[in-house]
Amino acid sequence: MIMSVLVGLMIEGAIITKGTRSGLTYRNPRPEWAGELEALERSSFPTSDPEDLYCKEDLEILANDFPQGGFVGFDNDKPVAMGLGIQVLFDEDNPLHTVHDVMPGNGDSGHRPKGDWYYGTSIAVRSEYRRRGIGAELYELRKDVCRSLNLRGIVAGGVMPEYVNHKHEMTADEYIEQVREQNIYDPTLSFQQENGFELVRALPNYIMNPDIDNYAALIIWRNNDFRSQQ
Ligand SMILES: CC(C)(COP(=O)(O)OP(=O)(O)OC[C@H]1O[C@@H](n2cnc3c(N)ncnc32)[C@H](O)[C@@H]1OP(=O)(O)O)[C@@H](O)C(=O)NCCC(=O)NCCS
Repeated sequence: MIMSVLVGLMIEGAIITKGTRSGLTYRNPRPEWAGELEALERSSFPTSDPEDLYCKEDLEILANDFPQGGFVGFDNDKPVAMGLGIQVLFDEDNPLHTVHDVMPGNGDSGHRPKGDWYYGTSIAVRSEYRRRGIGAELYELRKDVCRSLNLRGIVAGGVMPEYVNHKHEMTADEYIEQVREQNIYDPTLSFQQENGFELVRALPNYIMNPDIDNYAALIIWRNNDFRSQQ
């Protein structure tokens, strides 16, 4: 009893919700968790260049800029999952971009309060907690942000880890089409399609990741409740 009271006191921040499937408690990110979230990010994207990933300082800035757009999942007092994002101005007619276009770093989280899209900058679940519905719960929380802030939807550059085994046979766009048609299972892209995302096209030079020739897939989820203000 005393222990649980102490643990409760250690985690600042109101519980937003409790995962109905996972039982995790979700809170908005706080700057003081930045070190642990950096470790979660690095362990979740082991083949990415750390330069392209969130570092502690970036996570502190993001937690100050747009806390209501991010969610950290706790198992008791341990952060085991996160879904982070920013508001951006995204032009569907000119969709090509790199991770640095969206997240400039050097003190700028990329969050633009007038942006009408939510950009998913990182979703990560500790490996031993995967396949329990935590990723899907994080997506639901992000979709609720779009609904409550009246945003057009979620955009992201989805990593496509299984492309490493197909890149000598097909282009990145052909690979994305094969995943879309469910002829190939990609642990990340298939999961996103399952969560209502369109797998739109390849984004060349999105992120340094030699395994998949630096590609990502542009993925979009549309908020059907969005109402244009004009
Ligand atoms: C991608 C990632 C966030 C998914 O997280 P997760 O918590 O495992 O996601 P979920 O449990 O909601 O769903 C994953 C899969 O497990 C399945 N699943 C969920 N609960 C399950 C259960 N109880 N039993 C069996 N399968 C289950 C889901 O159907 C889903 O299958 P699908 O890929 O065929 O759609 C996680 O694998 C991860 O952190 N990967 C590394 C980082 C990364 O690549 N992030 C994405 C960057 S774009």
